[in-house]
Order: sequence, then structure tokens, then C-alpha cells
Amino acid sequence: MVRANSLRARQSGYSGALETAAPCLALVESARCESLHHALICAAADGLIVWMRGDLERVLFDEPAIHRRLDDMAAQISNDYRERDLTVIAVLHGSLMFVADLLRRIPLPLKLDCLRVASYHGEAESSGDVVFKQITVPDVAGRDVLILDDILDSGHTLAAIRETLETVKPHSIRVCVLLSKNKQRARDVDIDYVGFEIADEFVVGYGLDFKERYRNLPYIGVLRKELLEED
Ligand code: IMP
Ligand code: MG
Repeated sequence: MVRANSLRARQSGYSGALETAAPCLALVESARCESLHHALICAAADGLIVWMRGDLERVLFDEPAIHRRLDDMAAQISNDYRERDLTVIAVLHGSLMFVADLLRRIPLPLKLDCLRVASYHGEAESSGDVVFKQITVPDVAGRDVLILDDILDSGHTLAAIRETLETVKPHSIRVCVLLSKNKQRARDVDIDYVGFEIADEFVVGYGLDFKERYRNLPYIGVLRKELLEED
């Protein structure tokens, strides 16, 4: 049916449009996309990913590597929190992809809440000034809290979140990060679960941003240094 549509498009002589649509037709004909509309979206997404890939120095963890690690982390967390009142606190926005993929692997009756904080304010270095963008602190009194964040860098963010949540008197607090940078930290933070240890480099993708970009890259990579220095 889609093939018939593409043939009809060819016959009706839209040669310029067809040139533009060639990658879409190839997607349809390779059966990766079931309609021209879907193919258009896929081609645009492929172009976007290729464009963002060019801004990376190198890829650190591809999708299969991330998912394999999440399988192990989820198994460990599921085991540790069996028969406990687990509340996951996701630190937005960086942890979005991580939280979505990890929690779907944890078959426990957990609760999910979110916190929105900022300490980078669009820069590549933490300002140390952690602003809570969400006014109300989640009610976690008496619960076993697991804080999920994308990355541990200076330690300012997780130290401030931990201190704030402790005021609500949860039963326990643990911290889980996808990435932890190997570096001297401004604040010490005890981390209970770590996906990957990485060098002290600025990374993007899989939720992590630089100036709000690259979050939708499906893998994690090191951003080219000259982009960090650009205005
Ligand atoms: P910290 O307060 O310096 O530990 O930084 C925590 C927050 O800074 C993380 O939750 C991230 O949102 C952001 N961050 C730290 N390092 C990176 C990085 O390499 N890439 C993207 N964001 C980062
Ligand atoms: Mg960020």
C-alpha cells in the first residue's frame, strides 16, 4: 500500500519533492517504516542524530551497553527493596531517560516523585548554588527513599537534595546515579548504586544536556571541548 503510494508519487512527476523524499522512500522500501509519514519522521530523527553525533568527541556508552547495565542495576535494586515501602525521587530533567528505563525493569509496588533543581545554570561547571525549582518537597516521611540522578559531579546537587529530604524524616535514603565522575568533589556524597564510573569530562546524551541540548541522543558521549568554550 505504501509502496503503491510511493509509485503514484513518482508517476505524478514531483521530481524535486522526490529528491527530498528519497531517504524517506528508502526507509519505507527497507520496511523500517510502515508509512511515508512515519518515514518522514524517522528521516528527520536520523538527520538530527547524525547532526548531534558530529558534536561529540567520542561515544562512551551506546544503547545496548546502557541497557545491559540497567538490567544489572534493576536486579540489585529489586532485590534490596523487596517488601519495603520504596519511593523513588527522580531528579529532573537529566535523569528522565534513566528513570524511565530503570523503573520499567523494577517489578515492585514503588511510588515515584520528582524534584527539579538547577546548579549549572547553563554552564559546564556547577555554580554550587542549588536552586529548588519545585517548591514542595515530596512527602516521604517513613518511606524508603531512593534518589535517582543522571550524574554525580561536584556533589553539590545530591548533597543538597539529601539534606532537604532528610528534614521530612524518611525511614531510609539511598542514592543511585547512572554516571559518577572520577574526581575530587566539592561535597562528599555516599552513593549506593552507580551505573558507570567515568573520567572528569563533560558528557551529553540519554537525558544529559549542555545548554538544554542533546538530551534526546539515545547514547552517551563526550562533548567536543571547543563547544563548551563557545558562547
Ligand atoms: P553536581 O551538583 O556538580 O554533582 O552536578 C549534578 C548535576 O549537574 C547533574 O544532575 C547534571 O544535571 C549536571 N551535570 C554534571 N556533570 C554533567 C555533565 O558532564 N554533563 C551534563 N550534565 C552534567
Ligand atoms: Mg543538566
